[in-house]
Amino acid sequence: MKALVLAGGRGTRLRPITHTSAKQLVPVANKPVLFYGLESIRDAGITDVGIVVSDPREMLEPDRRSGQPLTVMVNSQAEIRAAVGDGAAFGLRVTYIEQSAPLGLAHAVKIAQPWIRDEPFVMYLGDNLIKNGITRFVREFERESPDAQILLAHVKTPSDFGVAELAGERVVRLEEKPKRPKSDLALVGVYLFDASIFEAVNAIRPSARGELEITDAIQHLISSGRNVRSHVIEGWWKDTGKLEDLLEANRIVLSDLASDVRGTVDAATQVEGAVRIDAGATVERSRLRGPLVIGAGAHVADAYVGQFTALGEGVRIVHAEIEHSIVLERSRLEHVPHRIESSLIGRDVVVTASDARPRAHRLMIGDSSRVELA
Ligand code: TTP
Repeated sequence: MKALVLAGGRGTRLRPITHTSAKQLVPVANKPVLFYGLESIRDAGITDVGIVVSDPREMLEPDRRSGQPLTVMVNSQAEIRAAVGDGAAFGLRVTYIEQSAPLGLAHAVKIAQPWIRDEPFVMYLGDNLIKNGITRFVREFERESPDAQILLAHVKTPSDFGVAELAGERVVRLEEKPKRPKSDLALVGVYLFDASIFEAVNAIRPSARGELEITDAIQHLISSGRNVRSHVIEGWWKDTGKLEDLLEANRIVLSDLASDVRGTVDAATQVEGAVRIDAGATVERSRLRGPLVIGAGAHVADAYVGQFTALGEGVRIVHAEIEHSIVLERSRLEHVPHRIESSLIGRDVVVTASDARPRAHRLMIGDSSRVELA
């Protein structure tokens, strides 16, 4: 069996982070989301992995809020190649498959056909996180050998998802974001297919949003009498494609954190809960309330770092308070008068206070950023 990991896409819901970086590499508890997926594929005993990446190029796309055209640099490829390489570090053999434009999940399957050939495969959306991995799901597919198997989870708001209608474990219908959902079972971003999926992705037409939809391809399998099974997951899963879900994933992963202090914490610092402090990090005269992680070389002084916070390498938090947030490499929060919470802060960002008169908020913020002032 092979694995097809989707790491292209637009990532519009995570702008501005995705203007400059691939959303699959945004860290959850200081580890890129994509790595969790690659590890669970390896743990399921699969070694041949094809990663779908976008072509580096500029695209003109409408901004979500204003509808105005915005130039987006789609360049996840180089970054993903640099982070994952040939996959040896994960015990995998990785092949990169270039998708000319984000034309849909089923389009990604279509272009991967020459690499997959007629082997069964697991398709894994690179921004999804599944706590208990996919091993049971893969074993069940091998045992039952249906044409396709989808992973489902009970959700509170099914009308936001692709929803499955079941007869036993057999899927009888799929509906994308239904107004009156027939169940509370949403499609999770992991699918298992045999070669019959290629016939389906070649038969379907683009949807209203111009993409080849994987739900349409699976519905095509069902309509042509193929056996599509389902597996309901027990543990949690998250699609980390938007801020709230990314922070929630970070919270859940950190909830299982074991304390591991390799950096230096001075005697004037108060530590509660599980904390991971990587080598070369220093913490002085602060209060740490775990679970939280502090990356290598970070510096925290006269600060409060609260629950469910992940500070990347080289971050500086000085005279500032932060909680339930993710801060990427080398950013600085210094002398910030209000606590920062539920935030995602990119790389090399500076947030600081100034005594300059008149007192005012002075901002230099990239396109599609979001600032909420207290
Ligand atoms: P989505 O999150 O559904 O799409 P997106 O990345 O375009 O994001 P947004 O809606 O915020 O603009 O994609 C799920 C995963 O599949 C994600 O890892 C990106 C990847 N993907 C591809 O590789 N190729 C594609 O054509 C699409 C649509 C997504």
